[in-house]
Amino acid sequence: MRRVGFGMLAGAIMLAAALLAPAQAQDTIKIGLLLTYSGPFADNAQRIDNGVQLYIKQHGASVAGKKIEIIKRDTTGAAPDIAKRLAQELVTRDKVDFLAGFVLTPNALAVADVANEAKVPMVIMNAATSIITTKSPYVARVSFTLPQVTVPLAQWAARDGIKQVYLMTSDYGPGRDAAAAFEKSFAAAGGTIVGQVAMPLQSPDFSAYAQRLNDLRPQAMFLFVPAGQQATALMKALAEQRLTSSGIKILATGDVTDDAVLQGMGDAALNIITSHHYSYAHTSPANKAFVEAYAKLFGDDVRPNFMSVGGYDGMAAIYRVIEQLKGRMDGAKAMAALKGMRIDSPRGPIEIDAATRDVVQTVYIRRVEKVEGKLVNVEFDKVENVRDPGKP
Ligand code: PHB
Repeated sequence: MRRVGFGMLAGAIMLAAALLAPAQAQDTIKIGLLLTYSGPFADNAQRIDNGVQLYIKQHGASVAGKKIEIIKRDTTGAAPDIAKRLAQELVTRDKVDFLAGFVLTPNALAVADVANEAKVPMVIMNAATSIITTKSPYVARVSFTLPQVTVPLAQWAARDGIKQVYLMTSDYGPGRDAAAAFEKSFAAAGGTIVGQVAMPLQSPDFSAYAQRLNDLRPQAMFLFVPAGQQATALMKALAEQRLTSSGIKILATGDVTDDAVLQGMGDAALNIITSHHYSYAHTSPANKAFVEAYAKLFGDDVRPNFMSVGGYDGMAAIYRVIEQLKGRMDGAKAMAALKGMRIDSPRGPIEIDAATRDVVQTVYIRRVEKVEGKLVNVEFDKVENVRDPGKP
């Protein structure tokens, strides 16, 4: 009896929901937020989510008379099959107007197929392999690409008099992009790559790689691993082999000295030279306001990092599209609105290139220094208007 009663009640609720759905769809704009909320990259997901939350808190949860609804889905780790299935559900069942998020490249690549087929705009808030935006005309990126930040660093290294570099990068999209970009531009500037290793994405044993590096003792090393736990583990392994402050110069993309984990690395991280698109210590009024608002919402000692900025700017882009379309959503028109869009980001000005839908921005060269007792990526050089060099 009880079971029948429950079944009838559930049926009635589903019917009521189905009847209500079309009315609701007209007043609500839905954003499917796909992030690695669990597993080894969960911290990264939370930082993007924080950026999204902060933007909504500051700008309100409705735009052009429509309520903004965020539907969160956990892609777990690097799991393209799960990401694809979740994206398909978001598109067919939830009827989302945007797909957004994406910490990891493999998940973004899998979802690009779904966005393409469904003609749903997809906004990349982190995943940084060059090729992602070429997978569909429905993909736009507000984060960065590995070649975009790596080329200025390789050129800086050559100018700084560095002649020989050993490359240590993760063996998947962004790591391969970083290694190839460094090798090409460093060689073009007269430098030599004395060796390289590609480390697995899943549970790499950094101590073995650090040991090999200790035997080789190159003039400099260039590192890329995904931000967060892996960056911390890599620094620990280098410190254990006494490779930090050993005279071997350490170059890396800003993923390795990510603001969110830098403090925990301790003095081993001092003097590492990195290139990236965002440092929480970026000196501009817009960034000062962003860092303060972030701390107010998430805790006094919580720093935003480049992923937080990606989430924040991704929402800025989405809000702008909705305003321009006056709330009448259409995939093709949304992409037209994204093309050429300029945003005053906490990182500085950014633009979504009209031809490639990839981000154009300033790349900063930074050094890890201690400022008022805290480890900080201090920007000391920059290259403006950098496009992804991987695009024609
Ligand atoms: C990526 O998978 O594209 C990725 C992940 C973490 C990073 C950078 C790129 O820090």
